[in-house]
Amino acid sequence: MTENTTTQTGTPVASDAHSLTVGADGATVLHDRYLVEKLAQFNRERIPERIVHAKGGGAFGRFEVTADVSAYTRAAVFQPGAESETLMRFSSVAGEQGSPDTWRDVRGFSVKFYTTEGNYDIVGNNTPVFFIRDAIKFPDFIHSQKRLPGSGLRDADMQWDFWTLSPESAHQVTYLMGDRGLPKSWREMHGFGSHTYQWINAAGEQFWVKYHFRSRQGDLHLDAATAEAIAGADADFYRRDLHDAIEAGDHPTWDLHVQVMPYEDAKTYRFNPFDLTKVWPHADYPLIPVGTLTLDRNPQNFFAEIEQAAFSPANTVPGIGISPDKMLMARVFSYPDAQRYRVGTNYNQIPVNAPHAASVANYSQDGAQRHGFNSPSTPVYAPNSFGGPVANADAAGEGSWEGDGELVRAAYTLRSDDSDFGQAGTLYREVYSDEAKQRLLETLTGQGEAITVDAIRERFFQYWTNVDADLGTALRAAVGDEDAAA
Ligand code: HEM
Repeated sequence: MTENTTTQTGTPVASDAHSLTVGADGATVLHDRYLVEKLAQFNRERIPERIVHAKGGGAFGRFEVTADVSAYTRAAVFQPGAESETLMRFSSVAGEQGSPDTWRDVRGFSVKFYTTEGNYDIVGNNTPVFFIRDAIKFPDFIHSQKRLPGSGLRDADMQWDFWTLSPESAHQVTYLMGDRGLPKSWREMHGFGSHTYQWINAAGEQFWVKYHFRSRQGDLHLDAATAEAIAGADADFYRRDLHDAIEAGDHPTWDLHVQVMPYEDAKTYRFNPFDLTKVWPHADYPLIPVGTLTLDRNPQNFFAEIEQAAFSPANTVPGIGISPDKMLMARVFSYPDAQRYRVGTNYNQIPVNAPHAASVANYSQDGAQRHGFNSPSTPVYAPNSFGGPVANADAAGEGSWEGDGELVRAAYTLRSDDSDFGQAGTLYREVYSDEAKQRLLETLTGQGEAITVDAIRERFFQYWTNVDADLGTALRAAVGDEDAAA
C-alpha cells in the first residue's frame, strides 16, 4: 500500500496538486494549513552558508590505527588497533556555495573522529601553513579575499594590498599560487592539521605534534587552463568526483603521520614552533606513522550530514590539547560561536554532530530546537548530592603549558631563524621543480597584471623579490610583457 503524504505533525493531507480555493477559479483560503506549512517550510530551507569554506562536500569512513604512538598520547582514537568512524569535509575557502570547485584557492580538509571519548576534530587545509599568525587579522584577511562592497566583485588590488602589507603571508601565498592552489581532486591532495597541537601520554608527559595526511592517490594538480575550462563546464567537479568514486567502490585513503617535538625543545628551537606560517623541517622532526583513513560511504542527505556538519578545533579529546598558537586559541572560540549562529544553539544534538561512540552527560538544558534531555530525576545543577554527573580532571586529560607575563599586544618574540620570507624562499628554490617554478611565474604574471594600483604592484614585486631575488626579477620583466604572460 502506498504511504500517505502527511503534514509535519503526521496528519494525512488531501492534495499535493491543488490548493484549497473558493470554487475552482476563486480565492485561496488562509486555512489551507498544508499549503501554508509547505510554503513556510520552503522559505526556511536555507541556513546561512559558512562565512568561509562555504562550498564543499564530504563523506563518511573509518580510521584505523596501524602503528603504536601510545608513548606520545593516551587518546583512545590513536591507541594500537583502535578503529573509529569518521566524517570528512573538503572545501574551498573564499568562494560562496555555488562557486566553481576548480577556482584557485586553498582547500579545507576537515576530519571528525567519532571516538569512544567523544568527538575529535582536525580542521585543517591542503597546505601546512597559513596566511597570518594572529587571529585579530582574520576578518580583514577574509574580507580582502571575498568581494568589494560596492560592485560585489572580487578584486586583485585588495587581495595583494592585504598580502603585501602582511609579509607573514608569503609562505602560504607561495603554496596558493603554486600547484597546491589547483588540486586535481579532493581525493588527490594531502591534508595538514597545520597548527601545532599537544599530545599527552598515560604518564602525563607532553609532546608537541603536527598532523600530516598523505593521500595514497597522490598529491596531484590541474594546469591553469584545464582548471578554468572545468570551472565553466562543471562547477561541482570535485564534489562529483568524490561522490562518484565512493559510489563506484573506489575508496580514497590517506595515511596519517605526525611530527613529534619533545615538550622542552619548543622553548629553544631556532624558530617559534607555534608560528602557523612555518613548517617543521622533516630532518629535525621526521614523519611518524599513525594510521589509515578511508572514505567509503556517501552522505544520505547532503544538507543534514554535510551542510549542518560542525567541525571545530575546540573538539579535543583526553590526551590531546591545543598549543600556545594565537590562531588556534582564537579558533577554539570562533567555530562553536559560528555554529551556534549558523546551525542553532543545539547544533551538537544533530545526529552528524552528536557523539556516535560516546554519550553526553552534563547540566546544559533548553534552548531552541532542543530534543535531547536528562531524565526528570537527574539534578539540574552541580555540585549536587543526588548522583548527577561529576567532572573528572583525570578523565579529561587536558593539555597545558607554562605561561606568565604582562598583558601586551605584541608579535611573537623573534628567534634566530624567524623570518617572514625564509621558508617561502626554501619552498620555491628547493621543493618546486623547474616546471612548477615556471607555472608559478605564469600565475603570478597574471596576478601582477590584474593589479591596477601602481603602489600595490610595486609592493607585489618587492614581496616576490623577498621570496626569491631571481623570481622577483623575472616577474618584473614578465608583467606587462605580452609574450612572457602568454
Ligand atoms: C583565527 C583564524 C581562523 C578563524 C577565526 C576561522 C574561522 C572559521 C569559521 C568561523 C568557519 C566556519 C565554521 C562553520 O560555520 O561551521 C571556518 C571554517 C573552516 N576553517 Fe577556519 N578560521 C581560521 C583559520 C583557519 C585555519 C588556520 C585553517 C586550517 C588550518 C582553517 C580551516 C577551516 C576549514 C577547513 C573550515 C571548514 C570546516 C568545514 O568543513 O565545515 N581555518 N573557519
